[in-house]
Amino acid sequence: MNITICFDKLDPAPWVAGVQAALPQANVSAWVPGAAQADHAIVWAPPQQFIDEQPARKTLFNIGAGVDALLQLRLPPGLQVVRLDDAGMSVQMAEYVCHAVIRHFREFDGYDADKQADKWSYRKPRNRADFPVGVMGLGVLGEGVARALQMFEFPVNGFSRSPKALDGVRSFAGPDALPDFLQASRVLVNLMPLTPETENMLNHATLSRLQKGGYLINVARGRHLVDEDLIALIDNGHLAGATLDVFRTEPLPAAHPFWQHPKITVTPHTSARTLREESIAQIVGKILALQRGEPVRGVVDPQRGY
Ligand SMILES: NC(=O)c1ccc[n+]([C@@H]2O[C@H](COP(=O)([O-])OP(=O)(O)OC[C@H]3O[C@@H](n4cnc5c(N)ncnc54)[C@H](OP(=O)(O)O)[C@@H]3O)[C@@H](O)[C@H]2O)c1
Repeated sequence: MNITICFDKLDPAPWVAGVQAALPQANVSAWVPGAAQADHAIVWAPPQQFIDEQPARKTLFNIGAGVDALLQLRLPPGLQVVRLDDAGMSVQMAEYVCHAVIRHFREFDGYDADKQADKWSYRKPRNRADFPVGVMGLGVLGEGVARALQMFEFPVNGFSRSPKALDGVRSFAGPDALPDFLQASRVLVNLMPLTPETENMLNHATLSRLQKGGYLINVARGRHLVDEDLIALIDNGHLAGATLDVFRTEPLPAAHPFWQHPKITVTPHTSARTLREESIAQIVGKILALQRGEPVRGVVDPQRGY
């Protein structure tokens, strides 16, 4: 079995070594143009040339959960794309989102400002029933986030394409349910995949339906959000602020107003990183399952776009 690895801006060497150690019977190598045909590929943002050169490849394993960039390439019909599912990302995402929700709810930015002014000031405790959190996208990562938020007893709403039955989570499904979902939520966490349906879905019309004093946490993709609509809604007081991990252009350009906005927190696409060991273990497990003719999780449906 031949396995090829093709990454953009990431050294493939430790991945080649890790996959080779886990699959000694395989021939694992980093892709170079003109390389021999491989059975499986492990990729991150590969060039179109890589796809075109090996039309008989069976499976493409993407070392991330989102496949929006990969699906922009011309893929041969019948090529199976498999994404990471969890592989250590779910707990990272849960800690990032809980941190952002709690930081906002408990007014830690306010305490930081008070400390700068040598000021000892109690703030009135806020009622968590007044901070229902809406998790948009209740898949592998969204479900983990919803469960973690429940540990802190926040009311949790969930929005997905198909209805979900998660204990204690109020489920809203499909576009007709979106207005009710937003009106029932004060903090909005975006964990949807980027597809033609979800692009620009966080806009003036949707964000203004959040409860007054709403707060946005975008950890999915920058192209879900219309940047200027968010800024307008924060500046007119409808929204209290936002924590953003993903941006339309990454790295976020130096002149972008998000950098200097006092109510917007920016992090560099770091909420849930790909962990090499966990990812290699998951991909190798799936390769072996496919060899045995068993189904694997995380197969991308190109029609759905995720
Ligand atoms: N910032 C980071 O570091 C980072 C890291 C990893 C992933 N991500 C992002 O997180 C996204 C989610 O990952 P995941 O593993 O949780 O994906 P997933 O398991 O595929 O879950 C996607 C969820 O979104 C829902 N959804 C899709 N299209 C929708 C629509 N049009 N309307 C409403 N709901 C819709 C799906 O509904 P159904 O359940 O009904 O299908 C599903 O619940 C990825 O696509 C990626 O963009 C970001």
